[in-house]
Amino acid sequence: MNVPFVDLHRQYLRYKDELDAAMARVIAETAFISGTYAQKFEEEFAAWLGVEQVIGCANGTDALEIMLDALGVGPGDEVLVPAMTWISTAEAVGTRGAKAVFIDIDDTATMDPNLIEPAITERTKGIIPVHLYGCPADMPRIMDIAKRRGLFVLEDCAQSHGATIDGKKVGTWGHTATFSFYPGKNLGAYGDAGGMATNDAALAEKARMIANHGQPKKHTHLIEGRNSRLDGLQAAILSVKLPHLDSWNDQRKALAHLYDQNLKESVFELLERPSNRDCVHHLYVIQYSNRDHLSEFLSHNGVHTAVHYPNALPQMPCYESATAPTDVYSKSLRISHKCLSLPMFPELTEEEVYSVIDSLKKFELQKLRAK
Ligand SMILES: Cc1ncc(COP(=O)(O)O)c(C=O)c1O
Repeated sequence: MNVPFVDLHRQYLRYKDELDAAMARVIAETAFISGTYAQKFEEEFAAWLGVEQVIGCANGTDALEIMLDALGVGPGDEVLVPAMTWISTAEAVGTRGAKAVFIDIDDTATMDPNLIEPAITERTKGIIPVHLYGCPADMPRIMDIAKRRGLFVLEDCAQSHGATIDGKKVGTWGHTATFSFYPGKNLGAYGDAGGMATNDAALAEKARMIANHGQPKKHTHLIEGRNSRLDGLQAAILSVKLPHLDSWNDQRKALAHLYDQNLKESVFELLERPSNRDCVHHLYVIQYSNRDHLSEFLSHNGVHTAVHYPNALPQMPCYESATAPTDVYSKSLRISHKCLSLPMFPELTEEEVYSVIDSLKKFELQKLRAK
């Protein structure tokens, strides 16, 4: 059996009529940039998330950059980010002229809260926890530290739409949160799209202004901003998809449970998942020492996999000279060498998951026999 890593076409076929009709409406009304559909989606997403304001923008990287600008981050400032994440989290800090200070992860693959306080200096302005792979960071502890030390918390929710901690959604713990609606995300558009969320009205107003050329109203530019708006087609697509997000996340959780049950006593390592943190499994990641050999074997057996990510950020040429020796980031390095993302998307069938598990068991047996 051929098992794709992700197949977005299956979802499109299932909701084709609704999606095609929504796109046709936007085109017929020429509601391409911002406007009715963008506003509608912002309101719907805010209601779903449980925050007062959502501001749409062009992508998740812009969302981070705009929000950091709105928070006043600039040259001389430091912001704490996990050493294992997609580069956007750190890049948004660096491109503000500030310094991304890397914090190693713990066994949940999210920022280790024990390492935050020792990294705080008089320059530290805030913390960006990332709910990597759809699994929440330890927000109660991070918020406690931030409150005591007077730091902002911006949650990077690009991979975690709908994940919760003690029943409270990620994106509602910090002062603000950013989302990506890149096509493959748990809630994905059909192109680039992003959003920012907050209950802070002044921060929301500033972010909205920055994303739209610094104008609170047409032709009045209070500051120099940028062009980063949510376009109508993407917003209309997201509005069709949002009502299904919770059931898609449930489906991801059910598939992850199958993987968990069948792999928990195997040569493959699973990530730690504290019981009060509900993961929405944007990715299902296992760890194995000879990851490349395993992925090759799976590929020969028709199972497509990916690696998120093969390098920890402090190893990247753009950060190498500015960061501490790599042994400081030992858990991030370890996962970067061993991680392998298995097929995971809501339309993946149980039969396909069992086929992946069978291939993994076959690999394991070969290894045990070779010993
Ligand atoms: C953790 C994280 N942050 C930020 C982003 C940036 O989102 P976008 O690709 O929409 O710019 C991504 C996208 O993959 C991500 O995974």
